[in-house]
Amino acid sequence: MAVLNKLTSQEAIELENKHGAHNYHPLPVVLNKGEGVHVWDVEGKKYYDFLSAYSAVNQGHCHPKIIDAMIAQAKVLTLTSRAFHNDVLGEYEKYVTNLFGYDKILPMNTGVEGGETALKLCRKWAYKVKGVPENKAKILFAENNFWGRTLAAVSSSTDPSAYNDYGPYLPGFEIVKYNDLGALEKALEDPNVAGFMVEPIQGEAGVVVPDEGYLKKAYELCKSKNVLFIADEVQTGISRTGKLFCCQHEDVKPDILILGKALSGGVFPVSAALADDEVMMTIQPGEHGSTFGGNPIACKVAMAALKVAVDENLSENAEKLGIIFREELTAFAGENDLVKSVRGKGLLNAVLINDTEDSSTALDICMKLRDNGLLAKPTHGNIIRFAPPLVITEAQLMECISIIKNTISEF
Ligand SMILES: Cc1ncc(COP(=O)(O)O)c(C=O)c1O
Repeated sequence: MAVLNKLTSQEAIELENKHGAHNYHPLPVVLNKGEGVHVWDVEGKKYYDFLSAYSAVNQGHCHPKIIDAMIAQAKVLTLTSRAFHNDVLGEYEKYVTNLFGYDKILPMNTGVEGGETALKLCRKWAYKVKGVPENKAKILFAENNFWGRTLAAVSSSTDPSAYNDYGPYLPGFEIVKYNDLGALEKALEDPNVAGFMVEPIQGEAGVVVPDEGYLKKAYELCKSKNVLFIADEVQTGISRTGKLFCCQHEDVKPDILILGKALSGGVFPVSAALADDEVMMTIQPGEHGSTFGGNPIACKVAMAALKVAVDENLSENAEKLGIIFREELTAFAGENDLVKSVRGKGLLNAVLINDTEDSSTALDICMKLRDNGLLAKPTHGNIIRFAPPLVITEAQLMECISIIKNTISEF
């Protein structure tokens, strides 16, 4: 039996406010239990989770197969560091590289570490393989990218709230407009460009879906200039958009694939950079690593999480239910003035509210959705992201669509 805290919501929020840094602005709801598509607050109220911990809990909360794998491993061996071998890492590496079709994986913990790893691989490759002069390698990023909170990540950010007052910033990064092949082509003229890192759909920017063909063409442009195409699939990966990873929609195999979040089903911080030998073998022993990366619990958890995604056909479910979600809400947008449009792929979707970015309408709607039993959060002032666990059934989704429509209609 789980041990549940006896705090009220108000007490828990006050404790956080008093003793924790104020680097987040959570919706006022205090959760203490999750199962599948549902979470419960400390007062016992049940909600549909339509954020899935920013697409980490794709397999549903506390999936028994993932939790069992974690507990079994935790009782035997938790951490050896990479100073020694362990008997799970190799098995995991074989499984994950076979599944994604790469020669090798470099295991890390958080999504942003996956991104850092990709950039270090890219720079190593630039100097050792491509022949870029020392310290001249450039990496291109898309405008409005989001890949985490480290200094490298904020150095490549175009969002002032992410980078303000954190300078001096890392050099060697350049921004190109997202979904603009002309801008990319122009930036690629510089022979010192080593890589282009891009989200196949920009999640934090507000679920921005590029034009069909953009990823394929961007990949081809990179290839024509001997530049690495680096896909940040931390949010779009593991079935979220209707494929195991989103670039598969356009038959693109990125030179470096970054995974995180749902790689562990949200159970444990597990991330990875995947690449073929030409790139991966540029890093030698001692040149990169992490105490926890590739630990036995993480490996078992990730294998279980990936098996759930495959065995329970989460990609197919996301694809099918995503179409229903967008159809239903697009029809609703036609009869409701407040909903401007609906966009997304699979079960990564957003509803654009017909109001200014600095308005509180989207937040007010999310508060009402909470009261009505569904948790979601605005990504920007006027965009609400809807990303339920991918184990959601069609009947549950239809119930949620009703909650969303009825709630918005109240405004
Ligand atoms: C696309 C993308 N990349 C990277 C990250 C960073 O992941 P983490 O917060 O685990 O460091 C995020 C987090 O939201 C993300 O959405």
